[in-house]
Amino acid sequence: MPVEALLGDTVTRDYSRKLTLFNAFARPELRQAVASLGLTPGMRVVDAGCGTGDMLGVFLDEVKAAGVVVGMDLAAAHTTAARRANSPETAVLQANLSQPPLAAASFDLAWSVNTINHLRDPLAGVKALAGLLRAGGRVALGQSGFLPDMYFAWDSRLERLVTEAVRQYYRDRYQVDERDLTSTRALTGLLRRAGLGNVKVQTFVIERLSPLGAADEEYLLEAIFRGTWGERLRPYLAADDYEELTRLCDPQHPDYALRRSDFHFLQTFTLASGYV
Ligand SMILES: C[S@@+](CC[C@H](N)C(=O)[O-])C[C@H]1O[C@@H](n2cnc3c(N)ncnc32)[C@H](O)[C@@H]1O
Repeated sequence: MPVEALLGDTVTRDYSRKLTLFNAFARPELRQAVASLGLTPGMRVVDAGCGTGDMLGVFLDEVKAAGVVVGMDLAAAHTTAARRANSPETAVLQANLSQPPLAAASFDLAWSVNTINHLRDPLAGVKALAGLLRAGGRVALGQSGFLPDMYFAWDSRLERLVTEAVRQYYRDRYQVDERDLTSTRALTGLLRRAGLGNVKVQTFVIERLSPLGAADEEYLLEAIFRGTWGERLRPYLAADDYEELTRLCDPQHPDYALRRSDFHFLQTFTLASGYV
């Protein structure tokens, strides 16, 4: 495993389906976040930890044909998916963002979402991204709420237990504890420690009500209920709590949370940026 991997990323790891589902789900808020950066045609953008490359086309829309958009990711399966999802003029590199194979001082924006928190040395990662920027360029770090910070509209006791169960799962699977995970919330401090100035932060709320659209239901059911909770949480919950959660997450059950008329979901997406 490379030294940077805190949450288990490797060249061969593949969670592309989860990434595609998240980007389809959060697309309106991600677009809003990009729009807040005020990109102009001709700018040069690198998406570090681009995953399945779902944001590359959004950047291309902003910088147009005169601009340049490059995606970079460690995982082969993710870069393959990113190449497939984008036009050939968008370069996608399989590389470690802490040692980027790109010319120094050649970009206007280094964008990195939900990735810096995967590195063992996030400061080195941000410094490497800052090194890619020309004078006046900006690093923008995005972070969606960690799973334990998601809010569903069901009983708060079960939500608290599920949150704790997810934390325990992370402790056991990756040997990271809450302090390791929450320290990455200090995005603004990280940018400042990397020597960036004029640091700004803005949080977008991803808020969904029933009836849900298809992308919303797919993400919450597949990526969260099945991919993140499901069997994984059984060892960490009392039997009756696990059963209740299973009922709420089961599309065949009348209690299925995503089709309840009181379904109301909140998650945040925070974008922090700083200039060289
Ligand atoms: C949670 S995903 C986020 C992907 C994408 N930014 C998104 O929001 O969908 C984290 C990504 O960072 C990549 N990654 C992890 N460590 C990396 C590194 N050192 N250099 C480049 N990419 C890395 C992983 O392969 C994965 O695609």
